[in-house]
Amino acid sequence: MSDSESILSSMTETRSFPPPESFAKTARISSLDEYQRLHKQSIDDPEAFWADVAEKNHHWFKKWDKVLDWQCPLAKWFVGGKTNISYNCLDRQIELGRGDHAAILFEGEPGDTRELSYNQLLAEVCRFANALKKLGVKKGDIVTIYMPMVPELTVAMLACARIGAPHSIIFGGFSATAIADRVHDAESRTIITADGGWRRGSIVPLKYNVDEAVKKCPNVENVVVLKRCDNEITWNDGLDRWWSDLVSSESDVCEAEQCDSEDLLFILYTSGTTGKPKGIMHTTGGYMVYTALTSKLIFDFKPDDVYWCSADIGWITGHSYITYGPLQNGVSVVMYEGAPNHPDWGRFWKIVQDRKVTVFYTAPTAVRAFMRQGTEIPARYDMSTLRLLGSVGEPINPEAWMWYHEHIGGSRCPIVDTWWQTETGGIMIAPLPGAFTLKPGSATRPFFGIDAAVTDSTGKEQPANSGGLLVIRKPWPSMLRGIYGDMDRYREQYWSQIENVYFTSDACRRDEDGNFWLMGRVDDVINISGHRIGTAEVESALVSHKSVAEAAVVGIPHEIKGQALAAFVALKLDATASDDLKKELLDHVAKQIGAIAKPDQIRFTDALPKTRSGKIMRRLLKELASTGEVKGDTTTLEDFSVVAKLSESDG
Ligand code: WT7
Repeated sequence: MSDSESILSSMTETRSFPPPESFAKTARISSLDEYQRLHKQSIDDPEAFWADVAEKNHHWFKKWDKVLDWQCPLAKWFVGGKTNISYNCLDRQIELGRGDHAAILFEGEPGDTRELSYNQLLAEVCRFANALKKLGVKKGDIVTIYMPMVPELTVAMLACARIGAPHSIIFGGFSATAIADRVHDAESRTIITADGGWRRGSIVPLKYNVDEAVKKCPNVENVVVLKRCDNEITWNDGLDRWWSDLVSSESDVCEAEQCDSEDLLFILYTSGTTGKPKGIMHTTGGYMVYTALTSKLIFDFKPDDVYWCSADIGWITGHSYITYGPLQNGVSVVMYEGAPNHPDWGRFWKIVQDRKVTVFYTAPTAVRAFMRQGTEIPARYDMSTLRLLGSVGEPINPEAWMWYHEHIGGSRCPIVDTWWQTETGGIMIAPLPGAFTLKPGSATRPFFGIDAAVTDSTGKEQPANSGGLLVIRKPWPSMLRGIYGDMDRYREQYWSQIENVYFTSDACRRDEDGNFWLMGRVDDVINISGHRIGTAEVESALVSHKSVAEAAVVGIPHEIKGQALAAFVALKLDATASDDLKKELLDHVAKQIGAIAKPDQIRFTDALPKTRSGKIMRRLLKELASTGEVKGDTTTLEDFSVVAKLSESDG
């Protein structure tokens, strides 16, 4: 983005929703004054604030020597402290008397169900942790996990955390190539997977994808396979081991490793503006403290809550708000394996009804998909147990907010619109539901310890209601510690746009009451259904096809997904444009990256519009793909005939 003045906001939302009295009465934070007082304390003296939280809410084998060591952009939290997040999720809950309380309420897509209490989950985690140790996995070894949404996924991550082996979880929708890239980058020697996972009545061939990936990863020594679908798989002797064989003779006791507060807990790959995915690093102590407190206060957790976050654990939302945050609060966590429309569009609401869900957290893209199916479907279910709703992943448009509020929340549940990123580790801007007046479309105010501001490109704070860049001016406990293997890129990407502040890449406006309104991303990363896809990555996937010479990918507005991709493809001279080739290209992108990155439109063209310096003019392409014509400024365009030709090509 060249200047912040170019971010215009056209939103004028006037509806507002104060916290319902009954909600505020029992809420953990119940007035704006209380929030403001605590927020001020947390900004004026962050070390005192976080030391108090870490002391009261967590178990430490050894207390820290120093709360924060900040050498911008390198942060260390709870320096010298020793702890274990799996201990805090399990053993500590059991010590607090929650051993027989349900930890996981599992719902498989075919309809099978399972429940694991905190005691049972601890036993499973210990068995698997012992099995990992026997396989030779040591503290510091990065373990790759590529699994369906089943309880063993949670078991695997907590087992890794228990022995101090960082995990790298890859979303089950990613392809073999994507797995191979990530296994390579992380130098991972152990992969945990399953034969398959259920999705919309079919089996996702997870083991097959791992087999394909492993062919390109000679350093992989162990592939642990959970039997989930009983589908046919190829067995590689010497490499593959059944999960059940490994754990059958293991003890259900495994002492938690005393991890350093700054030991790597996990890496999670996310898209950047270049083709190479970034391994975002999160460490132990700060992440543990921050995810627990945000869960407790933003979801206003009570001991009997049945909480359901419909995200996949393969994304940061699942890491922080299916596993680590909620379990540290001792609540019951619903976990659903499959698609929202299997066997029909009532599936989610049936789960809410059957499991008596009290807090439900989902993405705007899901809300819009449900909206399209009509109000009759949710109306068939008893959802009166719900008391709070949440939203994450992209701005929730006020129409969707209102629909969610009325038709899912029965007009009684507050909605917490939570803004954050893979990099931030935890929720950064969101309502405290018993204290804030909600405005549909606004994520409201920063959480404790978060010094958020809207600035211009020089770092100067913008006046109320002017759009600008969202930045964070102080370190926070769950912030990323870097990009795995590329600290230069970390500095460059997050800390160099404006000196000494964290650059979020999001455009934002702050209104006169201090509410933040997020406006989307300022770079070329496209947000599809709440997931960031780097256009550069899709372009390089297209270009890797034998018929493609050049490709440009841009984001266009999409009613359901928020944004979708449109691809302009210049073919090699010996290739011929056809519908079959379009299909082939889509399959190719799905294979290279995953189905989520498939463009909605592919247009063939002789050439792409470029500036004289050879940069593709994405702005023109965006306009063309969204409106069908180009009216914008074309003065820097090199070859004017290109645009005319492009307009004629079909979508
Ligand atoms: C980007 C981060 C956070 C977990 C899921 C996505 C956008 C996220 C909101 C929100 C407006 C949002 C931002 C952000 N985003 N939540 N409540 N309102 N925008 O994680 O893949 O790291 O993407 O998602 O653009 O930068 P992610």
